[in-house]
Amino acid sequence: MSSDLLAQPSHGALARPDLSALVDGATYRAGNPFALWRWMRDNEPVVRHEPDVFPGFWSLTRYDEIKEVLRDADTFSSSSGILLRPLAQGDDPGSNRTLALSDAPRHTALRGAIAGWFAPRNLRMLTESLDKTAYETVRAAVAAGRTEFVTEIAARLPLDVVCTFLGIPDEDRPRITEWSTDAFCAGTAEERSLAHLEILDYFGALAEERRARPGDDLVSVLAGVRHEGELLPLEDVVLNCDNLLVGGTENVRLAMSGGMLALLEHPSQWALLRDDFDTRVNTAIEEMLRWTSSATHIMRRATDDVRLGGRHIRRGDLVVCWLTSANRDPAHFTDPDVFDVRRSPNRHLALGAGSHYCVGTQLAKLEIRAVLREFMTQVGEVTLDGTPEHLDSIVVNGLRSLPLRLTPADRRV
Ligand code: HEM
Repeated sequence: MSSDLLAQPSHGALARPDLSALVDGATYRAGNPFALWRWMRDNEPVVRHEPDVFPGFWSLTRYDEIKEVLRDADTFSSSSGILLRPLAQGDDPGSNRTLALSDAPRHTALRGAIAGWFAPRNLRMLTESLDKTAYETVRAAVAAGRTEFVTEIAARLPLDVVCTFLGIPDEDRPRITEWSTDAFCAGTAEERSLAHLEILDYFGALAEERRARPGDDLVSVLAGVRHEGELLPLEDVVLNCDNLLVGGTENVRLAMSGGMLALLEHPSQWALLRDDFDTRVNTAIEEMLRWTSSATHIMRRATDDVRLGGRHIRRGDLVVCWLTSANRDPAHFTDPDVFDVRRSPNRHLALGAGSHYCVGTQLAKLEIRAVLREFMTQVGEVTLDGTPEHLDSIVVNGLRSLPLRLTPADRRV
């Protein structure tokens, strides 16, 4: 399929579309959810979906209501889960355990314990090794004349950084890389879930070891966190490590590869960025984040009765915020369906908002910048070397594969 999913909204139907398509992975793999979201924003911006495969929930598609929900963590709780799960899968095992699935005061304690690792001062120390890895991976791709951009470049950098933060020994990294690639990109759901179990097992052993012999890494930090006087159970440490690995690699991989495809499909935007990289790189990264909006939705549970967009939400109701739709809302973005690397302002919600705002924001931007810079300096011509494939997930959207053919910069025509 083409990159329609990410890039090419078609004109919305006038008749009420089948809204259940929103929670069908096939819509994201083969369809065009932008038309559906446009119709919903225009006609039913706060709409109830009755229980089916998924529990009953409200869909929010406009920027304003979504931002209101994300910024009000007292009324809209994260602790029972932030992603829609089929009823058959039961409760999210991370509920009330991981940073993302906690409310204050537990959320404040966990976030306070790890936030320093993502602060600019700590990230500055990483820059050199990040730039080196970006240089080497792009150089290898250019030398080979082709690359599978998603797995060989976009996944590589974020995984390296998360492994460093978690203090994963060098000799274990190839295993983690293999499991992560399978957990995200393997062909069948069974293969993906087996690889994920391997990762959880690995973190189980690592958490136990670091609790006994703490080091200077995030696993040791988490293993030493106390909440209400008690150390976190090891299972909570494992789930938090897993969240960092998944959150820290999957979204960056998708934003980087979706952004690369957007640049390829908009050669004038590529030229604008290449011609004045230092001036335009920041706005270009924001636009890549808005355009790709890799976290498709984020969910909350109402802790009280509340009115939202003229509808009555009851205490206990699930509310699903379609971030990708908010980021194409014409009420907030001029020509939202145009990819513009100079867009400013660009207050997208791709990284969330409010107290759960993505803790890895600056890191993600550093990683994307490092790869872009290497592409702009080392690479001449870039063309597709096959058809990009999309994921069929309702949770994250973007590319499973992006085969590229490359020539060195000095052979640029
Ligand atoms: C382009 C890349 C990224 C995107 C699009 C992204 C997206 C998001 C979004 C939408 C949220 C808000 C979740 C909510 O409100 O419930 C979030 C939170 C989070 N992200 Fe990211 N993320 C990215 C990169 C990263 C990186 C690099 C890391 C870490 C290495 C990371 C770790 C986290 C964590 C731990 C949270 C939970 C924060 C909290 O609940 O306080 N993310 N991310």
